[in-house]
Amino acid sequence: MIGVFDSGIGGLTVVRELMKQLVGYDIIYFGDTARTPYGNKSPGTVTAYARQDIDFLLNKGAKIIVIACNTASSVASEDFIGSYDVPIFEVITPAVELSVMASKIFRIGVIGTRATIKSGIYEKKIKEIEPNAAVYSVACPLLVPLVEEGWLKKPETRMIVKKYLHSLKCSQIDTLILGCTHYPFLKEIIQRKIGRRVKIIDSSVAIAERVKRFLEKHPEVDGGLGKEAISRLFVSDVTDHFEKIARATLKRNLSLENVTL
Ligand code: DGL
Repeated sequence: MIGVFDSGIGGLTVVRELMKQLVGYDIIYFGDTARTPYGNKSPGTVTAYARQDIDFLLNKGAKIIVIACNTASSVASEDFIGSYDVPIFEVITPAVELSVMASKIFRIGVIGTRATIKSGIYEKKIKEIEPNAAVYSVACPLLVPLVEEGWLKKPETRMIVKKYLHSLKCSQIDTLILGCTHYPFLKEIIQRKIGRRVKIIDSSVAIAERVKRFLEKHPEVDGGLGKEAISRLFVSDVTDHFEKIARATLKRNLSLENVTL
């Protein structure tokens, strides 16, 4: 099974992409809905939660782990990832690599939660590849609750997106990384507000491509993964609201299983 976790149900945008690109692979998902959001917690707390999330998925039989949460990925150092004996993927690196490939003038914008932006990880990784890149980062803490409320097309949401993107627009970026699980839900509005000439990098698409390429190159790992299109979705707190969002995201009738870590 491919194990995927997030602070809540936003990581289902990654599951949706994995299902699209790795058709039929068994997937087990854990959404830490009881402790969400991670985005305004300290790195120490997020790391401790991420360890528990990974251990849960491994105990359930996951053979590879995808950290769908940008916040958890941003605090998950190479040491942390290397301390497990299964392949672990974080969402930052694939999005960074795509953004550097896509940008023509190396003026790259990043939006994410407070914790992700404060970590400076996107900027660090972009500059490792392209030292002359100018990186402009903006924390957008109001976007997660707006998405979770389903306010995807409201004028208030458009206004807030516009306000958050204002400085990025003035910085004349040509590429924008959506550094949060929830932002793909707002891709249309973000594209309209930042302008059509800015290329948007969706980290859920980037990570699914990365996992697919890895499995093509590593048949020894691929062979150990079930391919009966089984998907099990666990959360640490089940509510009707989350169930509704999960169904709408994956466009299928599913039920969330409750688990206490
Ligand atoms: N999953 C988080 C992320 O991608 C967003 C929600 C949260 O703050 O926990 O950063």
